[in-house]
Amino acid sequence: MSDTPSRHVGRTGVWLVGARGSVATTAVVGAAAVSGGFVPPTGMVSQLPEFAHSGLPALDDLVFGGHDVTDTPLSKRAEQLAEAGVFPAALLPLVVDALRAADADIRTGTTGEPGGPTQAETAASLIDDLTSFRQRHRLDQVVVVDVSSTEPLPVLRPAHQQLDTLEEALASGDATLPPSSLYAYAALRARCGYVGFTPSPGVRLPALRELAEAQGLPYAGSDAKTGETLIRTALAPVFAHRALRVRSWSGTNLLGGGDGATLADPAAAASKNASKRSGLDALLGEQVEGLTHIDNVPSMGERKTAWDHVDFQGFLGAPMTLQFTWQGWDSALAAPLVLDLVRFLARARQAGATGPQRQLGFFFKDPIADHIAPDHRLVIQFEELRAWYAGAVR
Ligand SMILES: NC(=O)c1ccc[n+]([C@@H]2O[C@H](COP(=O)([O-])OP(=O)(O)OC[C@H]3O[C@@H](n4cnc5c(N)ncnc54)[C@H](O)[C@@H]3O)[C@@H](O)[C@H]2O)c1
Repeated sequence: MSDTPSRHVGRTGVWLVGARGSVATTAVVGAAAVSGGFVPPTGMVSQLPEFAHSGLPALDDLVFGGHDVTDTPLSKRAEQLAEAGVFPAALLPLVVDALRAADADIRTGTTGEPGGPTQAETAASLIDDLTSFRQRHRLDQVVVVDVSSTEPLPVLRPAHQQLDTLEEALASGDATLPPSSLYAYAALRARCGYVGFTPSPGVRLPALRELAEAQGLPYAGSDAKTGETLIRTALAPVFAHRALRVRSWSGTNLLGGGDGATLADPAAAASKNASKRSGLDALLGEQVEGLTHIDNVPSMGERKTAWDHVDFQGFLGAPMTLQFTWQGWDSALAAPLVLDLVRFLARARQAGATGPQRQLGFFFKDPIADHIAPDHRLVIQFEELRAWYAGAVR
C-alpha cells in the first residue's frame, strides 16, 4: 500500500460480466434503492461504521454496465426476482431509471464457442466496450466483476503460464482461454481492476496475474462466500481453538434459479465444490471425511438451503455432533458483496495497491493468495479488512 493522501474515490464504473443474471440485477436494484434512501444498507459491509472514513466511492457514484449473452431487459429480470421474493415489488418503480440506465450500457459478451471470431479479435472488442464505457461516463476508474455462470474446472495449457506465450498464442489465432479468463484479460488490458466473484478461473491463470502486475492493477477473488462457507469459516475455528477433534464435516446444498441450473452440470459443480472445500481443510489443519453436495431444486426458485453435519470428538473420546441449517435468498446474500467489493477494490487501487488484495479475502471461499497463505478464519479476515482500510487513509 502506498502513502497516498486520503481522498474519496470519484465516479466508478462497475462492469458486470453476466450483467443480466440474478446477482447482477439485484446489485443494480440494491445500489439504487440504498442510495435513494428507500431501504437501509443491511448486508453491506462497506456501510459499517468501521469504513465510514475510508474514502470509498459513494454508492451513487457507481455507474453500471456489463456483458451478457442473453438479451432479457434488466427491468424484466428485476420483475422476475421481485416475483420470486428476492426483494419487494414496491421497489421496482423507484429503481426503474437505474435499471434502464444500466441496460443501455450492457453489450453482447462471448461464450468462447469455436467457429466465431478469434480470441484476439474478441478481446479487442471487449476492450473497446470497456474503454468507451469509461470515456462515455467520464469515470475515474472501472472495476470488472465476474458474476456470470460458473465454468467447469479449466484444462490448464502451457500458454496459461506466461504472458508472452499467451499473447503469442492469441496472435496466432489459437483459442486458449476459458471465457472468464478472456474477460479478465480484456479487463486488465483496458486498465480495469478485477473481481472474480465466481469459482471460474478468471484472473487466476499465472499469465493473467503477470499481466495485472505489469499493468499495476489490483484484483481479488475467488468465489464469494455467502452461505455455507461463510458459516463454516466462522465455526471451524471453534473446534481448533477448543482442541476438539473433527472426524467428518458433510454438507448438502439445495438451490434453484440460474445458478442451481448451471451447477446441475457435474463439471460446474466440481468447480464450486473445490472452492468450497479449500478453506475447511486449511481451518481444520487436516483433510477430514465428508463430502459437499450441490443439488439443483428448481421449485426453490431463488432460495438456497445449506445443511451441514459435523461429527466430532471431545474429552475422553466423547462423540458429539453439530448441525446447522442456513436458508437464504441467493442474490440478496451476494449482491451487497458485489457493491462492497467494487468500493473496496476501487479504494485500494486509488491507494496504489496492485496484485492480489489479501485484505479482501474476507469475502471469498477461496481467496487468491499473495506470498503468504490466506487465513480463512472469518474474524481474522474481518480484522485484516478493517485494519487495511484504517491504514489506507492515514
Ligand atoms: N448467489 C450467491 O450467493 C453466489 C455466491 C458466490 C458466487 N456466486 C456466483 O455468481 C454467479 C452468478 O450467479 P447468479 O445467481 O446471478 O446466476 P444467473 O444464472 O442468474 O446469472 C448468470 C448470468 O451470466 C450470463 N452468462 C453466462 N455465460 C456468460 C458469458 N460467457 N458471458 C457473459 N455472460 C454470461 C447468463 O446469461 C446470466 O445472465 C454464479 O457463477 C454463481 O456461482 C453466487
